Amino acid sequence: MIIDVPELALVALVGISGSGKSTFAGQHWKPTQVLSSDFFRGLVADDENDQSASADAFEVLHYVAGKRLAAGRLTVVDATNLQSHARAGLIKTAREHDVLPVAIVLDVPESVAWERTQGRPDRTFDRRVLTRMHRDLRRTLGQLAKEGFRKIHVLRGVDEIAAAEIRYEKLF
Ligand code: CTP
Ligand code: MG
Repeated sequence: MIIDVPELALVALVGISGSGKSTFAGQHWKPTQVLSSDFFRGLVADDENDQSASADAFEVLHYVAGKRLAAGRLTVVDATNLQSHARAGLIKTAREHDVLPVAIVLDVPESVAWERTQGRPDRTFDRRVLTRMHRDLRRTLGQLAKEGFRKIHVLRGVDEIAAAEIRYEKLF
């Protein structure tokens, strides 16, 4: 599956924990193009899992995203992006810099994500958290277009995610 992305865009990855967002980002973009919520929580709180640091972490993430977009650099946000207020912040940042907000949704079965999660030392939440995220994802799928995302790519299942290729569209 070819994913068309404008050569200058703010790309929001969207998916439950364990859906493979960070893995996908690592396969398709340079590390410096990817701003992850984990990384920014680590920066501001010395702990990538400290959820109480999320507000500060996202404030800094948006600041850096803004600087990158102002310089004409494609920027990918690696966070679950399952809450409408989180996505609204990204839409706002994209609009402020006159770039297109693009969503790439990684939609994997909850059971797949749960199996992966159990093998991760850095994730210790219980299954109910994942179930809630999965519910939030279903709701999110119906909201992305009206929120202002200009392109929405939904990759359904592990195979489609693995086969995805990014193709850049020239803006002019
Ligand atoms: N993984 C895998 N096969 C894939 C993608 C991911 O086995 N095709 C594994 C990764 O190695 C990792 C786990 O699944 O151990 C979760 O993948 P990750 O990319 O970290 O998922 P995220 O969506 O980034 O999860 P989180 O929101 O918790 O950061
Ligand atoms: Mg991740």
